[in-house]
Amino acid sequence: MKLLNGIYQVGGPGVSHFFDATAYLIKGKDEYLLIDCGTPEGYEQIKENIRKVGVNPAEITKILGTHGHYDHVGAAHLWKNEFGTKLYLHELDAAQVEEGDSVRTSAAILYGTESVPCKVDVFLHEGDRYEAENLVIEVLHTPGHTMGSVSFDVTKDGYRILFAGDSVWGGYSEKIGSDEAAWRVSLDKITARHYDFYTFGHVNTQLIADADTRLREAKMAFANYYNPWFKTFFETYHY
Ligand SMILES: [Fe+2]
Repeated sequence: MKLLNGIYQVGGPGVSHFFDATAYLIKGKDEYLLIDCGTPEGYEQIKENIRKVGVNPAEITKILGTHGHYDHVGAAHLWKNEFGTKLYLHELDAAQVEEGDSVRTSAAILYGTESVPCKVDVFLHEGDRYEAENLVIEVLHTPGHTMGSVSFDVTKDGYRILFAGDSVWGGYSEKIGSDEAAWRVSLDKITARHYDFYTFGHVNTQLIADADTRLREAKMAFANYYNPWFKTFFETYHY
């Protein structure tokens, strides 16, 4: 689904597989990029969604990972094997992805499956910039959900859009590498900036308007990130 010129949502609940976090296709400079790429379970549907918007998946050269969790970058090895797509990730989340650590990537504890080890090709750093026509992507290191979590600050056609991954409304668990103190600093960092729109990892197909207000609300609701009703996705609970 098209969100803005050159920006499409191609993965996520109701879009690909229900395991998948949101994944975005962005038209870059003579190439296409993905922000996150979902799980192996959603891989075929995400490729189909990309074809539906007129893009050949082979044109995608980079996966910009928000962090090293299964629902965000679990399919990166499939992209690499089929198309040679490079995985970009912050160094602090690299080991769990490269080792296929199914606990740290959340594959085992939230999805009842295993991670396949995948080499990280390029480390993302705070302040890294990618530029194309009417497009700037800046990397913000926003640790907390995991220590290698980043958000992407995207300026497109004059709009400022935050792609927050799980740095906003993500779940808190020490098993998956969360750190409360770091997360509070990251939410302050995010809300100190201006955004027209934002989106995050577990949301329907949309860009959320009035982003400055909504992000301030998300920061105030930080305690909800410890919500005891945060459930595993591979089990169904009946009460
Ligand atoms: Fe996550």
